[in-house]
Amino acid sequence: MKEKFYITTPIYYPSANFHIGHCYTTIIADAIARYKRLTGYDVYYQTGTDEHGEKIEKKAKEAGVTPKEYVDKIIEDAKDLWKSLNISYDYFIRTTDEDHVRRVQKIFKKLYDQGDIYKGTYEGLYCVPCESFWTESQAIDGKCPDCGRGVKLVSEEAYFFKLSKYQKDLVKYYDEHPDFILPLSRKNEMLNNFINPGLEDLCVSRTSFSWGIPVDFDPKHVVYVWVDALSNYITSLGFPEDDTLMKKYWPADLHLVGKEIVRFHVIIWPCMLMALGIPLPKQVFGHGWLKIDGGKISKSLGNYKDPREYINAYGVDAVRYYALREVPFGSDGNFSEEALVSRTNSDLANTLGNLVNRTISMAYKYFDGITSNPKVTEEIDEELINSVSNLKEIVDEKMNELHVNEAIEEIMEVLRRSNKYIDETTPWALAKEEGKKERLATVLYNLLETIRICAILLSPFIPDTSNKILEQLNTKNTSYESLTFGNLEENLKLNEPKILFNRIEIK
Ligand code: MSP
Repeated sequence: MKEKFYITTPIYYPSANFHIGHCYTTIIADAIARYKRLTGYDVYYQTGTDEHGEKIEKKAKEAGVTPKEYVDKIIEDAKDLWKSLNISYDYFIRTTDEDHVRRVQKIFKKLYDQGDIYKGTYEGLYCVPCESFWTESQAIDGKCPDCGRGVKLVSEEAYFFKLSKYQKDLVKYYDEHPDFILPLSRKNEMLNNFINPGLEDLCVSRTSFSWGIPVDFDPKHVVYVWVDALSNYITSLGFPEDDTLMKKYWPADLHLVGKEIVRFHVIIWPCMLMALGIPLPKQVFGHGWLKIDGGKISKSLGNYKDPREYINAYGVDAVRYYALREVPFGSDGNFSEEALVSRTNSDLANTLGNLVNRTISMAYKYFDGITSNPKVTEEIDEELINSVSNLKEIVDEKMNELHVNEAIEEIMEVLRRSNKYIDETTPWALAKEEGKKERLATVLYNLLETIRICAILLSPFIPDTSNKILEQLNTKNTSYESLTFGNLEENLKLNEPKILFNRIEIK
């Protein structure tokens, strides 16, 4: 039986159409999911949308539509965006799905019945026009940080979750699972800033707005949005109603999230799971932010385009490649259209595209597109063949560490090496020499075989391009198991060379 791998993205707020930042997480998760599928795992890749809460309620009001109408439109657009980015999710969960709503109500009730959720009083500073609660430190000089008007001290009835009860067990889990939170720096931040000072019980219901999941046994309350949202990772698997998928896929192997929401995933979520008596996720990875020209991606600044504009202009794999290659995983990175263009030109057009095109064109010119490997080898072949032969293991190591950009760089390095190999072996000169035909065939075979192996290894990252290359090679050996040097068939008729990437002119 195949080993399973359950990977998730955060479920995004559909308050506005998604931008390149949301694409960033989703593309990385997609690359990891595709890589795991390639290497033989039974993968369950989930993404979705987090649709409740006051903010969405307000946005819908401004737009003069119901919250559900408001989010429906954005979700339709999001699904179209994921399609145009070749996102291979297995399940898309919406927190407005009936199944999710009912299951969250059952989770809330279960926690209440067993005493982990209790009724209390929430005290906070309240801004009436904004309908928002603030803490002492948020409200500057007793004024609402959003609108600047005065806030008043109010108290309202609310339900609380006994977070404090699980503090010890949480720290124990961290200690026993050193890879639970990555990068490590984020774990220290959690311990120092939030856990060691002492966890307070968490307010898990609201009565001040209504766009949320009603607490079914006390319907003037709606479930606090983070309890609703985090539950998505198990309600989608049927919890608490059906354990078939839970048995198959839970615990999650990787929750991939942006660094600003690591806190919710490594504190609230594990404590909820401990209370529910189910195993904790294996890993939460907090990645950095993608910035635009050094700053925040912001709707109000209007500093970004619809990601489909980049896809339409440069191709889906240019965008995927940029997101995966440019940013060292875990750190912040920058997005700029110029850098996207220059990355596409240097890596995809010059290194990869050129190599494939030159090689297949020469195979056509000298051998009518038919492969053979007479193995007239020279010392110079060894370095290339060795680097290709080690590539599978190196990429695997990098991917298991989630160093996606480095995995890609390793493949690029082999491709650059191959271009150099052409310059060194000078096939055009061999073609002119009597008696060098077999050497020429060997050189081309080595190149074509390198291209095959690299194309397979690139398939999680740039799936369309990988397919196009394998189609040009016309090979049947495209599986992960075939990644041993020498598996490209002989007497294979290659398909005609086609340009993969045109160089983009910089305006
Ligand atoms: N709904 C919550 C998550 C609930 S998960 C149980 C939420 N939604 S969000 O729409 O604000 O999306 C946040 C996530 O989007 C981030 O954690 C990150 O994965 C992604 N990103 C949004 N902007 C981003 C950047 N500028 N850069 C990188 N990732 C970004 O929080």
